[in-house]
Amino acid sequence: MGEKQVDEITGVETTGHEWDGVTELNNPMPKWWVNLFYACIAFAGVYVIFYPAIPMINDHTRGLLGYSARGEVAERIAAHSEMQSVWKDRIAAASLEEIREDPDLFNFALASGAANFALNCSQCHGSGAAGNVGGFPNLNDDDWLWGGDLESIYTTIAHGVRNEDDPDARFSMMPAYGADGLLSRAEIRDVAQYVMNFSGRATDMEAVERAAETWEYNCAACHGDDGRGDTDLGAPNLTDAIWLYGGSAEEIFNQVWNPRHGVMPPWLERLGDTTVKELAVYVHALGGGE
Ligand code: HEC
Ligand code: HEC
Repeated sequence: MGEKQVDEITGVETTGHEWDGVTELNNPMPKWWVNLFYACIAFAGVYVIFYPAIPMINDHTRGLLGYSARGEVAERIAAHSEMQSVWKDRIAAASLEEIREDPDLFNFALASGAANFALNCSQCHGSGAAGNVGGFPNLNDDDWLWGGDLESIYTTIAHGVRNEDDPDARFSMMPAYGADGLLSRAEIRDVAQYVMNFSGRATDMEAVERAAETWEYNCAACHGDDGRGDTDLGAPNLTDAIWLYGGSAEEIFNQVWNPRHGVMPPWLERLGDTTVKELAVYVHALGGGE
């Protein structure tokens, strides 16, 4: 660096840099900017002392306040459960009927039930509980496989259906009439017509007549003489327009040939009694509760 150079026109000192005769003036930064700059440095110094800041090999400096974002979340969750625990305790102590009859408990159970439903059940039953093709029942309607009163719904949710994880699971097995050779292909085709006839959709009345005996000996025990099903056995009502696996002659044939035996997981152990109660009240209130 040589002597100071001053621009002749403005009288301002230059940086000494020159490009093709153009020199750079060395104007100072504005005061406000410089002050802000120092303030930021000071702030950073204070921040480093009080808050977690500097990464180290396995850890980081923790700061005098011991703050952490995760700790804050944990605190808020704790405060939230503390707030909820009053309700949870009351729900734990109440019967399903009592929950339904107490407006405050009922509202709390509905809200919590809806949240838990979205989290645990909607994958199979759909977000609005409207069910899914392939055997996942709609829970909004008044057609129940295993019963639609509060206690029955509670039992289904708590222990599930046809799963091996829970000895109290609901269980029944429609035989595989075709796959196990119990009925011939022709007999199954006929009995499918018999099933269609419950909803007035049979296309072959002679087949319906031929299948009357097959129905009586093989199917009536579970589905009833009139095809209305039996909630003790999870045997669906075959007279309505609601089908787990489809109501066409072909789909009915397939089900009788080799039943699907839908599986519903048990929830009591995973979610606890209180949450299962809330879910039962929620499902019951969806529209079809008995
Ligand atoms: C892995 C898929 C799956 C999940 C997850 C699931 N379910 Fe199910 N659920 C089923 C199937 C399949 C059936 C029908 C079982 C049958 O064929 O009897 C069923 C049946 C039911 C029934 C009986 C319906 C009736 O008509 O009697 C209720 C009530 C029910 N589920 C509630 C729930 C609730 C509440 C949850 C969440 C805690 C849940 N389910 C989670 C698959 C599932
Ligand atoms: C041991 C009881 C039992 C017997 C016997 C039985 N079923 Fe079933 N059936 C069920 C159950 C339980 C289901 C539910 C679906 C499943 O588990 O596969 C069902 C489902 C069905 C379905 C499907 C309904 C739907 O919503 O998609 C049809 C159709 C059907 N049965 C017809 C018959 C016919 C026809 C016979 C006689 C040849 C018969 N079942 C015998 C228990 C039985």
